[in-house]
Amino acid sequence: MAFAIGQFADSSMPVDRPMTRRLPQLQAVVLVGFMGAGKSSVGLLLAQHLGWTFEDLDHRIEQREQQTVAEIFRDAGEAGFRRAERKALKESIDGLRGGTEKVIALGGGAFVQDSNVRLIEEASLPTVFLDATVDELWQRCRRQAEQCALERPLLGNVQTFRELYESRRPHYAKASLRHETGGKSVEAIVAELIQALGLLPNAKLGEK
Ligand code: S3P
Repeated sequence: MAFAIGQFADSSMPVDRPMTRRLPQLQAVVLVGFMGAGKSSVGLLLAQHLGWTFEDLDHRIEQREQQTVAEIFRDAGEAGFRRAERKALKESIDGLRGGTEKVIALGGGAFVQDSNVRLIEEASLPTVFLDATVDELWQRCRRQAEQCALERPLLGNVQTFRELYESRRPHYAKASLRHETGGKSVEAIVAELIQALGLLPNAKLGEK
């Protein structure tokens, strides 16, 4: 999938700032960002390049709950979905103890929940905020809704989408790294992330 993304709306944040902390034993990279940020497509390709496992947290939630995300929202509301999301994230992080290396793509609201951020921080996992303009994010989500019949319970309309993005952005900004995806292909983004994180294909952080 090639992104044709516009320019980033807010120049107040440093772009692609390098990670200041090198982790001794990297076991996972966690991708965060709003709906349509490309977390799943970038995560899958990044994992393939690294020879790591790719895990889409929404997929894990659907498997453990035996319901789609949309069904969980319908039956249990957003609060019920967030509970399931936290359990799935904990399971995913606990699974790293077995030595599996993973790229984990979070759903758009997961990194907004303090308890999830704590779980990630306790495991010392680096987080990457994939960003784009809200207009581009909206266009991508609309396209995915039409082409893949992807149902996003919190998609709303362009106005509510924008407001939700703005309210969440300060949370995403706490990620270890922000990566601008504007005008870049998934392949280019992955190559840049490998570089920015100090990773080599099939290697651990720091094993350059
Ligand atoms: C959500 C985003 C979705 C999914 C759920 C809630 C959100 O994931 O987790 O619908 O709160 O923004 P994507 O970001 O992959 O669309």
